[in-house]
Amino acid sequence: MSIISKDIQKAIELLCNEDLVAIPTETVYGLAGNIFSEKAIQKIFSTKKRPHFNPLIVHIPSFDSLEKVVSYIPEKAKILATAFWPGSLTLVLPKKNTIPDLITAGKDTVAVRVPNHPLTLELLQQLPFPLAAPSANPFNSISPTKPEHVERYFKNDIQMVLDGGPCKNGIESTIIGFENDEPVLYRLGALSIEDIEKVIGKVAIKNNKEENPDAPGMLLKHYAPKTLTILTTDILSEIEKHQGKKIGVLSFKSSFKSNEIFHEIVLSKTANLSEAATNLYDALHELDALLLDVIIAEKLPEIGLGVSVNDRLQRAAFVN
Ligand code: TXA
Ligand code: MG
Repeated sequence: MSIISKDIQKAIELLCNEDLVAIPTETVYGLAGNIFSEKAIQKIFSTKKRPHFNPLIVHIPSFDSLEKVVSYIPEKAKILATAFWPGSLTLVLPKKNTIPDLITAGKDTVAVRVPNHPLTLELLQQLPFPLAAPSANPFNSISPTKPEHVERYFKNDIQMVLDGGPCKNGIESTIIGFENDEPVLYRLGALSIEDIEKVIGKVAIKNNKEENPDAPGMLLKHYAPKTLTILTTDILSEIEKHQGKKIGVLSFKSSFKSNEIFHEIVLSKTANLSEAATNLYDALHELDALLLDVIIAEKLPEIGLGVSVNDRLQRAAFVN
């Protein structure tokens, strides 16, 4: 029997009973549990096989709830929250003592956002506690943007995916932290840096290429298909290199129409970067299921959400 359901009352019951529910957001589906239940939070880590050093994002129903979670809000954080919540922006701020260490991996900061999905906002409004929700995928694998993706991963582990349809934005939230009250980018995501800078001016970008990044979502290998993935600006010459193999192509705006290609997905026929972001993970799920020898992915233009999509593709394609 399917675990996908629109029954919000059932979701509330499960969550109040310290169980997990996969929830829809505008970015990706999250694997949600009560932030104050040690049992639920431990289950999030064990279900995802996520290392405990990787902290979770806390989801709240509105800006008004922020002061229940954090102890200090810099002026620029207020401006950002006002501009973009509900939406695809996560703020990392000093945590209240009441936030369990398990959520923050022992850090004195907590990541928090108001997701922009009507079902999940209703759920959060009705619950007496915020929800911790990492993306609902096993550690390091492709994030889920449809209820079916979550069901495939976790049908034996959780009782319910709250069905909110396909995710509108399709990649994870952009994460901003603060150092001396000034914003610092920890993770590229569904909100472009250009849009953020329009509101608060220049944002510093952390060099997150090191082994132990500030936001472990910045690990070099992440969001990865099982199939060998290659990121390139020159699809045709990669196809030539892999001639005779079972090749999948993920192209940006136009089809390469080569007989060498077993299956090709075009991310946005109108060359729209936000449409490409929306379609990215679903396309990777589809290609990964075909048992290809190689996925050849085309690099997007390095502007707006193209930068975020390229970031995910680079991590998908990273080989040690
Ligand atoms: O769009 C999203 O953000 C989705 C949906 C479900 O809301 N959630 C998501 O969660 O992407 P997750 O767990 O896959 O990624 C959370 C990221 C990780 O890279 C983690 O390291 C970072 O947030 N993070 C959490 N707390 C942090 C903190 N205190 N300081 C720095 N980074 C933190
Ligand atoms: Mg994730």
